[in-house]
Amino acid sequence: MQQPDAAERLTRDELRALQLERLRASLRHAYDHVAAYRHAFDAAGVHPEDCRTLADLAAFPFTTKETLRENYPFGMFAVPQERVRRLHASSGTTGTPTVVGYTRRDLDTWADVVARSIRAAGGRPGDRVHVAYGYGLFTGGLGAHYGAERLGCTVIPASGGVTARQVRLIQDFAPRVIMVTPSYLLTLLDEFERQGVDPRTTSLRVGLFGAEPWTEAMRREIEERLAIDAVDIYGLSEVIGPGVAQECVETKDGLHVWEDHFYPEVVDPVTGAVLPEGEPGELVFTSLTREATPVVRYRTRDLTRLLPGTARPAFRRMERVTGRTDDMIILRGVNLFPSQVEEIVLRTPGVAPHFRLRLTREGRLDRLTVRAEARPGAAPEQREAAAERIAGAVRDGIGVSVEVELAEPGTLERSAGKFNRVLDERPTGSA
Ligand code: DLL
Repeated sequence: MQQPDAAERLTRDELRALQLERLRASLRHAYDHVAAYRHAFDAAGVHPEDCRTLADLAAFPFTTKETLRENYPFGMFAVPQERVRRLHASSGTTGTPTVVGYTRRDLDTWADVVARSIRAAGGRPGDRVHVAYGYGLFTGGLGAHYGAERLGCTVIPASGGVTARQVRLIQDFAPRVIMVTPSYLLTLLDEFERQGVDPRTTSLRVGLFGAEPWTEAMRREIEERLAIDAVDIYGLSEVIGPGVAQECVETKDGLHVWEDHFYPEVVDPVTGAVLPEGEPGELVFTSLTREATPVVRYRTRDLTRLLPGTARPAFRRMERVTGRTDDMIILRGVNLFPSQVEEIVLRTPGVAPHFRLRLTREGRLDRLTVRAEARPGAAPEQREAAAERIAGAVRDGIGVSVEVELAEPGTLERSAGKFNRVLDERPTGSA
């Protein structure tokens, strides 16, 4: 393991003491400088001084994406504009984006937590790092970029797209580390094969994959085809960007939350009650050091559970995020997440790791079609058996019947970044 930074060597008690001190300061900062927080705290009858223990945070009101949208663009900023060095925004699938700001110190913190993440993933100073997360208002590219520089790496700022050139750059510049969405990595792997290059022969040894859900089955697929260690990186723009939590390469057992900067809670998505460690629910974050856009109890909509630390014992882990509250498909009363289908598709012989889910409505009945793709060379009888196998596994494992279509190799749309697996073609207003 690489030498961890000072915060990573804290004991659990030291970390908790630091969190409480920072939490109190952060609540005060939000209350004093953001009208929306002041009004929400006043309406809930709480004041920053009421937070005397970490558990007292539970009395404070939640912040949602809607709160951020209502205050578009700068209503959630807690510092004067002259102190804001950068803006990012998350596009959001519906309407108004959410805007986040960074002071000089926020950018430093962000670079530090991403540097820490790359090191935990097995990257080291001196490594070349190929960044294929998109650059721009999305936090992936620039977040990864400055973190890799902070660690002392050489950054190759490839961004997303122009896939054939990416493959060339990886061969010519020989990076050891790649940072990319797992779905775009699959697109890159296909391009390697199209160019007749065995991906296992490249210089890549470590991959940090995130920005969208992925599964253990996908980890096995990637590690096998690329001969690398594939680990999970998590984050969201509202909190800072990538680098909120990171999986350690030595254990690959979920993501350590960098709790000295981001305080996690898991709550019941319906009642909002804080759940004990180990119980699955919705992840909620309070920023502990953010200056420009602090967040208090921000509801991520990501579903996970908190577990004790392992490779970094003071820091709690979050289990890999397998879905979001708003990704859940309710099909004839049965709840289903795209990641459950991913597990099934990836373990089916003769089937490529690409799939799409299409939701349609016939009469009053919703139908789900799994569109998967045959691996090159899969025989016609094998394809038919594979389609039946997928439908059977969904029926037995998830408890609902679906249609399965197996497309010709190379015909399904490929990811260029964050991939939307679900095509909802039901008449609007019926979702
Ligand atoms: O996706 C930040 C990021 C960039 C993380 C690069 C990791 C790597 P947003 O665009 O604001 O920020 O989207 C945040 O993406 O709430 C999750 O639903 C999802 N997400 C991010 N990382 C993971 C992950 C970036 N490792 C939203 N596993 C989050 C599952 C993830 N979902």
